[in-house]
Amino acid sequence: MVKMAFSLTKFSNKVVIFVFLIVFLTPSAVVDAKPATFLQDFRITWSDSHIRQLDGGRAIQLILDQNSGCGFASKSQYLFGRVSMKIKLIPGDSAGTVAAFYMNSDTDQVRDELDFEFLGNRTGQPYSVQTNVYAHGKGDREQRINLWFDPAADFHTYSILWNHHHVVFSVDEVPIRVYKNNEGRGVPFPKFQPMGVYSTLWEADDWATRGGLEKIDWKKAPFYAYYKDFDIEGCAVPGPSSCASNPSNWWEGSSYQQLDPMAARRYRWVRLNHLVYDYCTDKHRYPVTPPECVAGI
Ligand SMILES: *[C@@H]1O[C@H](CO)[C@@H](O)[C@H](O)[C@H]1NC(C)=O
Repeated sequence: MVKMAFSLTKFSNKVVIFVFLIVFLTPSAVVDAKPATFLQDFRITWSDSHIRQLDGGRAIQLILDQNSGCGFASKSQYLFGRVSMKIKLIPGDSAGTVAAFYMNSDTDQVRDELDFEFLGNRTGQPYSVQTNVYAHGKGDREQRINLWFDPAADFHTYSILWNHHHVVFSVDEVPIRVYKNNEGRGVPFPKFQPMGVYSTLWEADDWATRGGLEKIDWKKAPFYAYYKDFDIEGCAVPGPSSCASNPSNWWEGSSYQQLDPMAARRYRWVRLNHLVYDYCTDKHRYPVTPPECVAGI
């Protein structure tokens, strides 16, 4: 008996080591890439010469000049999860420039897309952050806020949380936009298609700043924006198909299913003090209020 117990202990030691190796050497279904280098999760999709890696690949510089803007995309697509990065936008006169950070299903007919767009401005005038949500091919859900800080003075964290209950766009942990799953009321919600993570920096002076009145000043070029602390946690596709519906993924947890009281208070503060445009209240565009606006924010 004693001998048996002894060998069992030895056996279980081996099991422990074996399990240890499995856990740490097997790429897990849930991707947790923190802190990641740029090239671990992303590839350049537009103009190699306009994206420079810094700090051993842990940060990048995006360049916009008269020749080109630039862009990058995640190597994988994801179905639910959270993506965040720290961004420092173009300082000074950034009018006519747009930096975007978004998720996109790459399926034009039935596009799902979650957008952050940072619209530059003349020196001293506030940047605007536009968000939009496409679900099953239908977009046109723009909202705009002005930020309560200068986003070009320092890095700030921009994140998109996406689970079965809602999509939450946040700036430094402050929710600025919530798109709830209102499928019960017939409002489409993105949940069938995986999405990649994208970013681009380009000139859009035909619409971006004061509706296109303010043109880009190329004398100020090149323009630089900086990104770092890339973090994607989600169900990578292709990957185990059970991942996306697994209720034990942290981003599906009870504290992520609705805004907690503190987050809800901050969200109200943003809407009261910083909202500058909301498609929900644009009677000219939408004489009939869109259903997701009626269903409550
Ligand atoms: C730029 O500044 C003007 C003037 O303050 C403001 O009306 C506008 O909303 C700002 N943002 C953009 C993107 O035009």
